[in-house]
Amino acid sequence: MICYLNGRFLPLAEAKVSVLDRGFLFGDGVYEVVPAYSRKPFRLDDHLRRLQDSLDGIRLANPHDDAAWRERILRLVGEQDFEDQSVCIQVTRGAASAPPLRDHPFPRDVAPTVFMFAQPLVTASAAQKAAGVCAVTAVDNRWLRCNIKATALLANVLLRQQAVDAECAETVMLRDGFLTEGAASNIFVVRDGVLLAPPPSNLMLTGITYDVVLELAAAHGIPHAVRPVAEAEVRAADELWMTSSTREILAIVKLDGAPVGAGVPGPLAQRMDALYQTFKQQVMRA
Ligand code: PDD
Repeated sequence: MICYLNGRFLPLAEAKVSVLDRGFLFGDGVYEVVPAYSRKPFRLDDHLRRLQDSLDGIRLANPHDDAAWRERILRLVGEQDFEDQSVCIQVTRGAASAPPLRDHPFPRDVAPTVFMFAQPLVTASAAQKAAGVCAVTAVDNRWLRCNIKATALLANVLLRQQAVDAECAETVMLRDGFLTEGAASNIFVVRDGVLLAPPPSNLMLTGITYDVVLELAAAHGIPHAVRPVAEAEVRAADELWMTSSTREILAIVKLDGAPVGAGVPGPLAQRMDALYQTFKQQVMRA
C-alpha cells in the first residue's frame, strides 16, 4: 500500500517518522478523514476547509494550499488498488531537532509532519442498515475544543471502547444534560416527525456528513431544527442516527439496552439514507 509522507509517495512499511514527533509525544496535530467513492474524493473542499479550521485552532501553518492538497490526495487515491477509500490526512507540529527535544512550547523552525494513507472504505452493509445498531450513553468528558479535529483522541478512544465493551457500535455523549455527539460520529434525533440536530459549537465536531444530512433535509422538505437537544429527548426519541464519513447514516435502535422508538430503523432514517446514496451517486457522476 502506497502512502504519502512529507512530499514522498512510498510503501506504507517504509514510511517512518521520528520518535520525537510532537504528534507522538503530545498528540500535537490534527487530522481529516475523507471518503473517496470510485476514487473520487467526496466533499473535498469541505474537508480541506475543516482541515484549515483545525490547523488555525492549534496555530499551525497550513503546509499546503488547497490545490497542492488536492493534487497529492488525488495521486494517493490513484496509487491504491481499491476503488472506495477512506483517506486519512495527519498533520503534526513535527519534531524538534535540537534540545529541548521534548518541551511543551512550540519549537521554532520545525517543519510539520504530513502523513496520508488510504484504506478500503467499508460502509454499513444492507443487513447492518436493516438491523440498525446499538449504542450506550456516557458523560462527555472531553476538553472544550471538540470542534478541532485533533489527533489527541484519547478521550474519544476511551469513550468508544465503552460501546465496544457493551457490544455496541457507538457511545452517545451527553454534557450538562444535552446531547453533544458520538465518540466518532454526529448524532441526530427524530421526534414527532422532526429531525433534531445539536447546533455546531466548541462542544462537537461539525461533520461533513452532518452538513450533507441537513442540506438534504432542507432540499427535500423534511422538517428539521438545529437546536440544543436535551437528554430526555434523546431517551424519548422516535429515531436516533449516527452519521460520519465512514458510517454514513446508521440507525441506532437500542440505547443503554432500551429500544429506540419501535426498536427498528425508522422511516426517516431509511429515507435519509436513500437520499444520501442518491446524492453521492449524483456528485460522483458530475
Ligand atoms: N470521525 N464527530 C466526531 C468526534 C468524529 O470523530 C467524526 C468523524 C464526526 C463526523 O464527521 P464526518 O461526518 O466529517 O466524518 C463527528 C472520523 C470518521 C474518524 O475519526 O475516523
